Amino acid sequence: MRRKIVAGNWKMNGSTGLVEHLVGYVRSEVSCLDNGVEAVIIPPALYVRDVKSLAGDELSVGVQNVACWESGAYTGEVSAAMAKDCGCRYALVGHSERRQLFGETDAAVADKVAQLMSQGLNAIVCVGETLAEREAGQAEETVSAQVRKALAGVSGAEWQYVVVAYEPVWAIGTGKTATAGDAQAMHQAIRQVLKDLGAPADTMSLLYGGSVKADNAAALFAEPDIDGGLIGGASLVAQDFMSICQAMPAGTGR
Ligand code: 13P
Repeated sequence: MRRKIVAGNWKMNGSTGLVEHLVGYVRSEVSCLDNGVEAVIIPPALYVRDVKSLAGDELSVGVQNVACWESGAYTGEVSAAMAKDCGCRYALVGHSERRQLFGETDAAVADKVAQLMSQGLNAIVCVGETLAEREAGQAEETVSAQVRKALAGVSGAEWQYVVVAYEPVWAIGTGKTATAGDAQAMHQAIRQVLKDLGAPADTMSLLYGGSVKADNAAALFAEPDIDGGLIGGASLVAQDFMSICQAMPAGTGR
C-alpha cells in the first residue's frame, strides 16, 4: 500500500517563532483528519529538534539535505546518522535548488541515497526538468535519467525507504503548476522506470511539487499515480498547509 504524504519543505525560511506557531496547530488539526495522510515538516536543520519536540506522533520530521559521507572532517555538513539520531524519518535529496545552486550531481545524489539507506531513513528523491528541457521535448528523458542515476544502487528491502518527488523546475516558486494531467503522465513514466529498476513500484509513493496550493491540491491528488505533495511556500502558512493535507482523498491508499 502506498503512503499518502504531504511534506512541507521550509527551505531557508522560518524561525523559532514559526515553529511554535505552526507545529502545534498542524499537529492538532492533522490528528482530526481521517484520510490517512502523513504530514511531514522539513525545516532548516537547526530547527529539527524544536519541531520534533512539538510534533508528537502525529507529525513526521525531515531534513532538507544530508552529506554524501558517513562522518568526519566535512565542515558544515549534517549526516544521515545525525538526522536519524535527532528523530527525523525523512530526508530530501537532489532538490533542484541543491542541484542548481550548489552543483549537486546525480552521483552525489546517489551517494546521499546510499547514506540514507544505511540508516533506514526515508529518502525523498527530487527530480524534475527545466523549462528549456520541457520545451525541447526532453522532459521525460531528463527525469527518467535522474531517477535511474539516483537509485542505481538501491536494492531489495531498501526500496521501502524510497519516495520520489517530481518537481518541474519551472513550477517551483513561480505560481505555475503542471496540469494534473501532465503531472500524472510524468508520475506514470517514473513508476515505469522504477519497475525497470526492479523496484516494487506499485507500492511506492510518488509526490508532486511545484506551486502546490490549497486550491490546486485536490485535482493533483485525485490522479492515480500522485500519492502526495512536496510543498514549498504554502507550507509556511499553517492554514494553507492544513488545507493541502485535507485535500488528500480519503481511503486506505492505492
Ligand atoms: P513551491 O511550493 O514554493 O513552488 O516550492 C516547491 C518546492 O520546491 C518544494 O520542495
